[in-house]
Amino acid sequence: MSFTKAPGVEDIFPDRIPVWNRITASARRNFELFNFREVIIPVMEYTELFSRGIGDETDIVSKEMFTFEDRGGRSLTLRPEGTASVVRAYNENGEYNRLSVCKLFYIGSMFRAERPQKGRLRQFNQFGAELFGDDSPFYDYEVISMMNSIAIDLGILNYELLINSIGCEECRPAYLEKLKEYYQSNKSVLCEDCVKRLEKNPLRILDCKKDGCKALKDAAPVLPEFLCSSCADHHSSVKSYLSGAGIAFREDPFLVRGLDYYAKTTFEFVTTALGGQNAFAAGGRYNKLVEILGGKPTPAVGFAAGIERLMILTETNPPAPLSLDAFIIYSDEKYFQHSAELLRKLRMEGISADIDPSGKSMKSQMKKMDRENARFALIIGDEEINEKTVTVKDTATREQQKISEGEVSAFIKNNKR
Ligand code: HAM
Repeated sequence: MSFTKAPGVEDIFPDRIPVWNRITASARRNFELFNFREVIIPVMEYTELFSRGIGDETDIVSKEMFTFEDRGGRSLTLRPEGTASVVRAYNENGEYNRLSVCKLFYIGSMFRAERPQKGRLRQFNQFGAELFGDDSPFYDYEVISMMNSIAIDLGILNYELLINSIGCEECRPAYLEKLKEYYQSNKSVLCEDCVKRLEKNPLRILDCKKDGCKALKDAAPVLPEFLCSSCADHHSSVKSYLSGAGIAFREDPFLVRGLDYYAKTTFEFVTTALGGQNAFAAGGRYNKLVEILGGKPTPAVGFAAGIERLMILTETNPPAPLSLDAFIIYSDEKYFQHSAELLRKLRMEGISADIDPSGKSMKSQMKKMDRENARFALIIGDEEINEKTVTVKDTATREQQKISEGEVSAFIKNNKR
């Protein structure tokens, strides 16, 4: 008897592992640059964590969870996302929940019983980040800009950042009333699920993918018009931080997201290159969730990205050619020792550098350098030795200048591509 894999799961063979590694390495590097620390959370939790955390009326909880009973009759669920689990872990661990700001990231498999298609799996992998303890809009911006840096780093082209604010418990009720009124008067067009949502959770109707419900959305009241002054200020600060950093975004007043825990900022990174599944990363602020899951009132914000979706996007983009920061060229064999000493110092200072030890002509060394795609040629000849300088040549513009030996590494760091 031969076996096939279950629907919606994937094997990732060695030929695709470099792409996987590039994505997770980029995520890790950026998380660490922003001072986020890794946490490893379990793949299963008590079911109630997700039903309370994500919301009973969401598609994830009502239709997509892999839930089973353990031998003691308790209901367990394979995690459909990481946020609720990280909040549970944070609440359970005083060492972390006593920090004024706690920044955590995770990488791992999530499980949702969705209808499988390209970019939509039943077991998929996310990397995600969660920041606890501060309501500052600066952190909403930081979390978004961290994902933006990863997207740029991976060479993803033609994506759009959508943002919205879905208000707080102060201002959202008035909006929900208006939304109910609107959909009540169009009830005959709504799908069966949305008729139920109308009473319990009308915001969810905005997230429904059925044609009739989707068409009604165009004329629905929009949330940003109902924001209280505190949410409106928060939203405009997030936008001005983004603009200040040159991060382009488009406001989408209907971006409510498929999970109930959000308040204030919501965002998605979308692209048309994924077909039906357009989001490759998404998140937002969730200031009530820590409390809902039994912790102290703690503001929080975070996001998660789909690794398989990023793999599809980056596999169509050839990776940027590897490049070296510097290649040292010496005019005479007698300067090799001196050059090797400079090489050692540069590498110690975090500059990628190389040299040709063969002692061949400068022309031959330059040929080797060209194959390595070096940013700068560092040339050492009689004059440079006497003056304790290095001639630094930009290999792209061909401009060159003499720089004192002690300043070479700072110059390269400031002029990296
Ligand atoms: P989400 O939008 O449900 O948010 O998922 C985040 C990302 O996971 C999506 O943008 C997508 O790239 C990927 N993803 C989701 N479902 C699938 C699937 N079935 N197959 C492949 N990839 C998928 C969350 O999970 C929230 N926990 C994000 C968050 C963190 N919000 C605050 N903190």
